Amino acid sequence: MTPSPFRLFPERASSMAAPVDHLFLFLCLLTFCISLGVAVCLIYFALRYRRKDALSKGAPIEGSLTLELTWSTIPMLIFVLIFYWGAKLYVALATPPQDALQVYVVAKQWMWKFQHLGGQTEMGELHIPIGRDIKLTLATEDVIHSFFVPAFRIKTDIVPGRYRTVWFRALRPGAYHLFCAEFCGTNHSGMLGAIIALPEAEYQNWLQGGKTTGSSAAEGEKLFAQLGCNTCHLSERQGRAPVLFGLYGKPVPLRDGRTVIADDSYLRESILVPAAKIVAGFEPIMPSFTGLLREEQVLLLLAYIQSLGGEQPAPAATHPELELR
Ligand code: CUA
Repeated sequence: MTPSPFRLFPERASSMAAPVDHLFLFLCLLTFCISLGVAVCLIYFALRYRRKDALSKGAPIEGSLTLELTWSTIPMLIFVLIFYWGAKLYVALATPPQDALQVYVVAKQWMWKFQHLGGQTEMGELHIPIGRDIKLTLATEDVIHSFFVPAFRIKTDIVPGRYRTVWFRALRPGAYHLFCAEFCGTNHSGMLGAIIALPEAEYQNWLQGGKTTGSSAAEGEKLFAQLGCNTCHLSERQGRAPVLFGLYGKPVPLRDGRTVIADDSYLRESILVPAAKIVAGFEPIMPSFTGLLREEQVLLLLAYIQSLGGEQPAPAATHPELELR
């Protein structure tokens, strides 16, 4: 498809692009109509009720309850509609579908690195199948970057020290621009990438061709052994450290009485800053891995821990994006 030079919007290439545009267009149209209404009234009243001679006086005006109620109620209903529409869309965008295909993304000055669960890694390009929900777990190695794919209408800041997730479903094959949308240093403007959306069969071909190492989980297991994690985190409970089998996505009771879910963020924190949350029944004896592991290595460890069983951390609700058209 050749993009028209007069096109106002980027291509709508994801399942959420149309719903996002509809809300945006609605807001533009509403703003335009109200501005127009105000301008027309202003001009009309200025002409109609202008002071005609030096002696004329304005007529006394009593309040009107009906008028007051009308101009309070109608805007309120409009605002409630905007809130409802926006909130629904936001929740849909923020809630990755349960069975989404997961890809890890690491941003660093000034490149994008993608890590597929099958072990394929890519720089600057992400190959994904069309028609399937893709969930990205994003981390940054250094400063704040922002993952922005206009054609998919997704944009998320990636903040050091925490994971962000974003999801999309590409509708058509193609190469879509990926921008960094946060000024992140000298070559920020060159921090570009592409999302390559392929039909399922071509994607499968690509997966086979792009494979150079074991799966992320297998690489993570190697790293786990190299770092000596397995000397304490044994497959059976032996007292020194929590068992990691079946842990992923499950609730974990802490020593201070709280319970947390063993999601990516919790596991990452427990690797890098083990003392932050101590599991009930254990001592804070694990050494910190801050500075010893790169974000992509942490992600490999997470892929390994995820492969040991457990559940997908449950999103709050199923995404209602289909009703939103
Ligand atoms: Cu990364 Cu701008």
